[in-house]
Amino acid sequence: MKGIILAGGSGTRLYPLTRVLSKQLIPVYDKPMIYYPLSVLMLAGIQDILIISTPRDLCQFQELFADGSHLGISISYAEQPAPEGLAQAFVIGKDFIGSDNVALILGDNIFFGSGFSRVLEECSSLSEGGLIFGYPVRDPERYGVVEFDDDNKVVGIEEKPAHPKSKFAVPGLYFYDNDVIAIAENIKPSPRGELEITDVNMEYLRRGKLRVQPLSRGFCWLDTGTHESLQQASSYVQAVQDRQGLKVACIEEIAYNHGYIDSAQMEKLANDMLKNQYGQYLMEIIAETKAGSIFS
Ligand code: G1P
Repeated sequence: MKGIILAGGSGTRLYPLTRVLSKQLIPVYDKPMIYYPLSVLMLAGIQDILIISTPRDLCQFQELFADGSHLGISISYAEQPAPEGLAQAFVIGKDFIGSDNVALILGDNIFFGSGFSRVLEECSSLSEGGLIFGYPVRDPERYGVVEFDDDNKVVGIEEKPAHPKSKFAVPGLYFYDNDVIAIAENIKPSPRGELEITDVNMEYLRRGKLRVQPLSRGFCWLDTGTHESLQQASSYVQAVQDRQGLKVACIEEIAYNHGYIDSAQMEKLANDMLKNQYGQYLMEIIAETKAGSIFS
């Protein structure tokens, strides 16, 4: 399965923070925001990843991740010239996807929770159709909203409904079979001028091929769309990390634990960060695995 991170948009809601910097590069506590969605794809076992961003910002992602080989993965890049919708990612990424299935994650979505790696591994073995998630929120009208029955069968899905039929928002993480390219190519822009991911999902629903995986209440899906929610996300990550001594979305650790890089490479990655706790953490991971830690 291939993976796409969509890190476009102008980020105007976070001005002046994002006036010269991509939203997905601003810090969420101790790492750039895009580390979080990248970690999700890596946890799903996806090693071939396309980052889509604006013509202005793409070079900064390239500077940050290069070709990904230092993490034992492959990262390529493509431009989205204008913010014309999430579903456009499949049109832009058509050649990259080729004949594979594909996961799409939004560059500003942060997921964290016990057992998520297992869920992700299952999702990435998807053979047919589309798979979305449902997460209960206080303000579903701000999102795509999914309605489903007791057997998790999708009954309906709507984009930002004035009167939501359920409290389950659809987070920005989607798994599809290869039909998604043709579906995305055939949908029309919505009144806000975007190719809507909800229209893609509605087509899968019409074909009887859309599944939903509800995320339980202990699970964390964080928004970073406002200054307040961005600060809350940083505080949340800091609290969890400080308490457990384990990092959220540490892509170097995931690469190491998945066997994409060896301890020599991990040490190399840690080397220019040894003065801070991030680099020291990477060194601790190596020491702990060598000692046979339960966290390896
Ligand atoms: C987009 C999707 C929406 C989804 C949300 C998740 O909304 O259109 O269905 O629930 O991402 O973050 P947008 O951010 O474009 O308003």
